Amino acid sequence: MNWEERIANYEKETGYPKSLFGSNDSRIVGTWIMGNNYQVKSTYYGGYPATYLKRIKALFPDKKNVLHLFSGCVDLDIFPGDTVDINADLNPTYVDDAQKLENVPLENYDLILADPPYSIEDCDHYQTTMINRNVVMRSLSNNNDK
Ligand SMILES: C[S@@+](CC[C@H](N)C(=O)[O-])C[C@H]1O[C@@H](n2cnc3c(N)ncnc32)[C@H](O)[C@@H]1O
Repeated sequence: MNWEERIANYEKETGYPKSLFGSNDSRIVGTWIMGNNYQVKSTYYGGYPATYLKRIKALFPDKKNVLHLFSGCVDLDIFPGDTVDINADLNPTYVDDAQKLENVPLENYDLILADPPYSIEDCDHYQTTMINRNVVMRSLSNNNDK
């Protein structure tokens, strides 16, 4: 699917107003007005707000092998896939540090969604240290080269 088809599918499946645009370098840009419902079904701190995953799924209907990185308590009924989190208590498919990803067969996945902690305050909640996003991106690309 190209970006135009993804955006068309998003509008068809969600029924939300046109708010996304493709750019020449294969990025989609836009603004989502999420309304006033920021409730998180799982009640997990920092979990995706209502409708967020549904919107992402509508953009990627063709992706069947999905990896949720920094998965927390992601709602797999909405967007099925495997999960990676550093916290074993959350029972992810893989317990791993996103900066290493030594235990994750990345080549099995055709879409990776990442929702890292965004601040020291967030990390305090998860009892983790702040991640280095460049290192995460490197671990995703290095492991893919294997
Ligand atoms: C913003 S929450 C994700 C919430 C998720 N999107 C949901 O809907 O429930 C961030 C998650 O990243 C995890 N985390 C923090 N540092 C990590 C690391 N270095 N590697 C993997 N997971 C990490 C935390 O345990 C937490 O569950």
